[in-house]
Amino acid sequence: MSDTPEVEPEGGIVAELEHMTEAERAAHEAEVAEAVAPDREIAVEVGDTLLELRDVTMRFGGLVAMDSVSFSIKRGEILGLIGPNGAGKTTCFNAMTGVYRPTSGQVLLEDRPLGRAKRHQITHRGIARTFQNIRLFGEMTALENVVVGADARHQTSVVGALLRLPRHHREEREAIDRAMALLEFMGIADRAADKAKNLPYGYQRRLEIARALATEPKLLCLDEPAAGFNPAEKDELMGLIRKIRDDGYTVLLIEHDMRLVMGVTDRIVVLEFGKKIAEGLPAEIRDNPAVIAAYLGVPDEEDTDGAA
Ligand SMILES: Nc1ncnc2c1ncn2[C@@H]1O[C@H](COP(=O)(O)OP(=O)(O)OP(=O)(O)O)[C@@H](O)[C@H]1O
Ligand SMILES: [Mg+2]
Repeated sequence: MSDTPEVEPEGGIVAELEHMTEAERAAHEAEVAEAVAPDREIAVEVGDTLLELRDVTMRFGGLVAMDSVSFSIKRGEILGLIGPNGAGKTTCFNAMTGVYRPTSGQVLLEDRPLGRAKRHQITHRGIARTFQNIRLFGEMTALENVVVGADARHQTSVVGALLRLPRHHREEREAIDRAMALLEFMGIADRAADKAKNLPYGYQRRLEIARALATEPKLLCLDEPAAGFNPAEKDELMGLIRKIRDDGYTVLLIEHDMRLVMGVTDRIVVLEFGKKIAEGLPAEIRDNPAVIAAYLGVPDEEDTDGAA
């Protein structure tokens, strides 16, 4: 008999981590990183152009949401995409991920135009995103949400699954292991078995990122991942975004919080009324008169979730 209270079943991984020595923990983290990134080269130096927007225009009836926008993202960098409400940031993501087809102009991934590629094809080519308004399968567990993300990579068909082909079993096992590693990487493994709808808000936001990472993207696009976070949660998220990049991913980040953007990005592109008004290093952007003017009079608090 023991007096110690029972450990909650899903607290397993966290409880184990707490009892590890520093060295054990480091080894464990390396293992997790390995599981999270099985097929990628871990190279974090900023390299060649991964994605390029060339004169992308996006019209909705009379409204020009993107007006001949051009910029590129280099492999291994964290690029910030900022601008006041309605500037065209989310539209930019939509145009890059096949939600909309640009009215004119081109998006190129690794020098190849996305052209008429559909959303799932673009996922396959290596662009993953999260949404400004969280989109999870509420009735599924956290783990299942991530496994569904990993599914985008699977080789076997639905028929293969129904026939229970050996390859399907192996892939399923691997997908679950990897999903679990991703939850741990994002610091939310203790709630793996909970339905997504029952998770705290901060967990849901991180779960969305885990699910996007499960598609093994070359480019991870985050649309206001810190919306609704308090300063401490924002700091934690900044650390996570850096960790994601250090693990070999390229990140495009839409974020209103200047402290977060300035603290985590390598370079920043600024949109206003659908036009690119500036591009440069964080320090250059902070001192850019056009950017300051664009932000003048925009209250800080207006920026969180729920904007149309
Ligand atoms: N499907 C659509 N149909 C019509 N107009 C749209 C559509 N999507 C976006 N817009 C308009 O395009 C403009 C840019 O919107 P977008 O959502 O890209 O801005 P944003 O920079 O992401 O703003 P926020 O910071 O508020 O999220 C807005 O005027 C918006 O109303
Ligand atoms: Mg938006």
